Amino acid sequence: MSNWVVGKVIEVNWWTPTLFSIKVAADIAPFKAGQFTKLGLEVGGKKVARAYSFVNSPSDPLLEFFLIEVEDGALSSQLSQLVEGDDIWINNKPSGYFVLDEVPKADTLWMLSTGTAIGPFLSILAEGKLWRNYRRIVLVHGVRHNTDLCYQDPIKATEKLFPQFTYVQLVSREPPENGLRGRITDIISSGELLRYCHIEKFTEDHHFMLCGNPAMVKDTTALLTDMGFKKHRRAEPGHITVEQYW
Ligand SMILES: Cc1cc2nc3c(=O)[nH]c(=O)nc-3n(C[C@H](O)[C@H](O)[C@H](O)COP(=O)(O)OP(=O)(O)OC[C@H]3O[C@@H](n4cnc5c(N)ncnc54)[C@H](O)[C@@H]3O)c2cc1C
Ligand SMILES: NC(=O)c1ccc[n+]([C@@H]2O[C@H](COP(=O)([O-])OP(=O)(O)OC[C@H]3O[C@@H](n4cnc5c(N)ncnc54)[C@H](OP(=O)(O)O)[C@@H]3O)[C@@H](O)[C@H]2O)c1
Repeated sequence: MSNWVVGKVIEVNWWTPTLFSIKVAADIAPFKAGQFTKLGLEVGGKKVARAYSFVNSPSDPLLEFFLIEVEDGALSSQLSQLVEGDDIWINNKPSGYFVLDEVPKADTLWMLSTGTAIGPFLSILAEGKLWRNYRRIVLVHGVRHNTDLCYQDPIKATEKLFPQFTYVQLVSREPPENGLRGRITDIISSGELLRYCHIEKFTEDHHFMLCGNPAMVKDTTALLTDMGFKKHRRAEPGHITVEQYW
């Protein structure tokens, strides 16, 4: 039986010339914050589909996705043409293990993202279950340019509501308007991230969720492993949970 249903595009919001969000109305199975589904379009008579993380809280009626238009990207270049009222294929069975149920309780949760991969963390924050499980929560958003720092309103609102939450803007290719400059790996090894968050050191009771650019995930995992942290597995609890976007 097909897992595909037709959704309706309700809203398209362009943040920059390459970054955009779409809201979709569709009847799909419930998802957990941090999961993804597949979106698809007919391109040249064939269905082309790719994975996209939910940005919205599972309780919101509209499904929201945050995307980048990749130059010559088979699907993203087509998704970027969507306008309000268009139809879109959506897989009705959300999937993925990048969810809090799979993450052990910890003192401090580090949510480390690059580019559009801030999406699953926005969903996890919006759902709100995490405040019970962690004393400190740090969201790092690593981007090339200041203008790539989208979703400022909900993030700033979260900062105001929850004193245990720290948001770190990280810009790699120009001086940052706020926050830090460089890559996630740089600011971990230099100690800048800890200093910025007023946290003394990374300890055994910290957990790291990494999402986005596979090179960032690989290099950050290697760095954390060198520091003594382990990949988390159900059978063998550890400190690092990852999701790669390509
Ligand atoms: C679990 C999962 C969740 C994902 N969630 C999202 C999401 O929420 N938003 C999103 O935009 N993409 C997401 N992706 C990536 C998405 O599935 C597609 O790969 C992306 O849209 C490019 O598809 P394409 O057909 O246009 O490009 P392709 O022809 O498939 O070209 C892929 C190339 O584009 C680049 N690329 C792919 N995705 C990104 C990205 N997100 N940011 C920067 N460069 C990228 C890489 O260089 C990659 O080699 C996710 C991927 C996975 C595996
Ligand atoms: N963002 C834009 O302004 C822009 C504009 C036009 C087109 N695009 C296209 O969009 C795609 C890239 O999108 P993106 O900028 O969202 O994602 P990205 O290339 O994954 O960059 C996001 C952040 O991840 C960092 N990063 C990359 N490799 C890393 C590693 N090994 N360890 C730690 N951090 C790492 C980058 O730092 P570095 O900057 O140091 O690499 C950057 O700060 C490309 O296809 C590009 O051609 C982007």
